[in-house]
Amino acid sequence: MADPYGRAIRDHHRGERTEPLIDRDGAETRVHAIEEYYFGERTPEDWFEPRVDGPLLDMGAGAGRDALFFQDRVETVAIDRSDHLVETMRDRGVEDARVGDMFGLREQFDRDRFGAALAIGSQLQLATSQRAVRQFLADLAYVTTAEATVLIDGYDPERAVAAGVFAVRDDPEPGLAYRVYHCEYEGETGRTLLFRLFGVDASGTPPRRRRGRSSTPSRAPTTTATG
Ligand SMILES: C[S@@+](CC[C@H](N)C(=O)[O-])C[C@H]1O[C@@H](n2cnc3c(N)ncnc32)[C@H](O)[C@@H]1O
Repeated sequence: MADPYGRAIRDHHRGERTEPLIDRDGAETRVHAIEEYYFGERTPEDWFEPRVDGPLLDMGAGAGRDALFFQDRVETVAIDRSDHLVETMRDRGVEDARVGDMFGLREQFDRDRFGAALAIGSQLQLATSQRAVRQFLADLAYVTTAEATVLIDGYDPERAVAAGVFAVRDDPEPGLAYRVYHCEYEGETGRTLLFRLFGVDASGTPPRRRRGRSSTPSRAPTTTATG
């Protein structure tokens, strides 16, 4: 399958990239900030880092920013769906980088395998439905211990719409929005990415169940869960 996104980041790492990686939503485009995002200095969230004391699973690890940081402290397994990015991670020194799908954790790892997990970026919001999000959380609970700490990153729908984030569309349903775009690199077009943006309130209640309630605020973009 064409993977202009992963190929562009790999080429950038090798110093072989001569064209920009373009994100496209219809006529609107932006240049993907490869150096800044994937190769910048990583400063893990203050609350998360001290809690990572068991094997860590990095889901959608990209070029390995977090894996490189954490593997010096704990055993770290980095998965990504892109072959090019897994190759890039290995080149950069990620010790255990694997091609893997974060939406199939139970098929890839044993029960209680990890003491911590993280997914930085909005890749969880590529889940195809709310049911798929619930299945992901159930599988994540299966492969992590009961005491595990998990950091999952994503866009808060209302804030993303208000901020005019690239390719975001509002949804009349409270607590939901969408983001749709694809990548282009050296004439190659990637698959269309459909992100379903959802918020989580302090009780962990998903948006559909909040319908009809008065002003339940959405939480910050980062949500947490335990195994
Ligand atoms: C925005 S990047 C974030 C990369 C990295 N976490 C970082 O912060 O530098 C999202 C990554 O998730 C990966 N990804 C998307 N869907 C995935 C899936 N189902 N399973 C594993 N990785 C996935 C993409 O290939 C991409 O590398």
